[in-house]
Amino acid sequence: MESTQSIDSRFSSCQEQLSSRGQAHVLRFWDGLTIDEKASLLGELEAVPWDVLDDLILTHIVNQPVVAAPGDLEPAKVFPCHPPEERKAEYERAIEVGEQKLRAGQVAAMTVAGGQGSRLGFDGPKGMLPVTPVGSYTLFELFAQMVAAAQQKYETSIPWCVMTSEANHAQTLAYFESKNWFGLSPDDVYMFSQQMLPAFDLAGKLIMSSRSGLALAPNGHGGSIKALVDSGTLAKLKARSVTVISYFQVDNPLVKPFEPLGIGLHVSTGSEMAIKVIPKADDLERVGNVCSEQGRVRVVEYSDFPEALAKSRDANGKRRFDSGNAAIHFFDVDFVERVAGRSFQMPYRRAVKAVSYVNESGEVIVPSEPNAVKLETFVFDVLPLANNPLVLEIDRGEEFSPVKNASGSDSLDTAHRDLIARSYRWLTAAGVSLPRSADKKPGAEVVIMPSFALDASDVSRGTSEVPAIGAGEQVLLQ
Ligand code: UD1
Repeated sequence: MESTQSIDSRFSSCQEQLSSRGQAHVLRFWDGLTIDEKASLLGELEAVPWDVLDDLILTHIVNQPVVAAPGDLEPAKVFPCHPPEERKAEYERAIEVGEQKLRAGQVAAMTVAGGQGSRLGFDGPKGMLPVTPVGSYTLFELFAQMVAAAQQKYETSIPWCVMTSEANHAQTLAYFESKNWFGLSPDDVYMFSQQMLPAFDLAGKLIMSSRSGLALAPNGHGGSIKALVDSGTLAKLKARSVTVISYFQVDNPLVKPFEPLGIGLHVSTGSEMAIKVIPKADDLERVGNVCSEQGRVRVVEYSDFPEALAKSRDANGKRRFDSGNAAIHFFDVDFVERVAGRSFQMPYRRAVKAVSYVNESGEVIVPSEPNAVKLETFVFDVLPLANNPLVLEIDRGEEFSPVKNASGSDSLDTAHRDLIARSYRWLTAAGVSLPRSADKKPGAEVVIMPSFALDASDVSRGTSEVPAIGAGEQVLLQ
């Protein structure tokens, strides 16, 4: 245990720092705290990055940030999902390049899983959500199987980076340990946490979640860039000769982190950062819009995208801005290093949320209205810094079906539907006959796991193992 003397001296310097900023109220319960509580509160206070926050309190918390209206936006130039005849050879070469990269062990996977998943209402890290309609495998189990299957397919070792946050790190780590790292070598899994930032009330005062703790929230997935470097993970990837990081969000069970075409196009076009896009489901779908502004590719989040642009049509009556951000990227390791190392400050976004707090008497209050500002950065904000950014369109049903909401669109129901539909497509293409309803919908619940096939092209090798499947049956192929 730390000595009282050292606690006292840390307290004095914290008190001075806080008083000069009008934030000393967070020490109001000090005298009644145990030594451990004091040490923990001091730890949180000492980690507050005041160098960044002093300005942000004025520009983003007490005041609304001045958000420049998007400038002259044009639709981004997109590599089509299915190449026209004259580009087929280019795509075939790219697949070879991607496969070579994978075989050489130069590709790492990375899952961002530090968010709080508040919209879904699932109690626990989102990666622990059972997501397959048959077998109830969790998102993390699915991704781990993808890594294992790719290691086997490309006869190499593949590192998997998992970014957590203080809000869920211990639980995530305990889960991986309890599952024995899903059969992967623990040396191939790099779990690290992103930075936390304090929440402020609307007057710019720090909020306390308990008498001895600040209300803290993860700093947005933009924090992944710095966290990769600060945690030493990037150095470990470099030491293993990894040059490309295949990045995806924890919420997408259909993701294909090891599909060679995207990796190959990223490499062969000299792209430093790639973004996969989906044609939007409707004008106002809640996805980022991938645009070009003065020749640089950028994402304008749905909430900031002018409705007139979202609804605009080209001369052929097609939606002009039709590239939705699938939140799947390839990063060059050198690019991550360059961006993290320079003074470029990622823009902070202001989110006003309801955050529980302790009042002056030490009682915990659960507000019914938003009372707090959280600050976040977004990873796609580094896209304009990338040279030759690749924008690659993907087939939504093949690679994108995020679980975000408890019901309706982007929910477990839609993910189940899409996992089964994709399994049906792959099996049908390989010549397997499957039961269907009168309106041609899947008549059984069939799920292909990554250990059985990572992609449609893997299925033909295993068709002899597929049992006869009757209507209404549940079948897991693994
Ligand atoms: C996100 C994108 C949107 C894209 C959509 C596709 C943002 C701001 N928007 O929307 O452009 O079209 O996905 O599905 O990202 N996370 C962290 N740490 C954090 C915050 C989030 O790791 O501090 C992770 C979450 O665990 C999750 C992912 O980032 O995996 C997405 O975060 P979320 O805030 O849910 O973004 P969306 O609004 O879904």
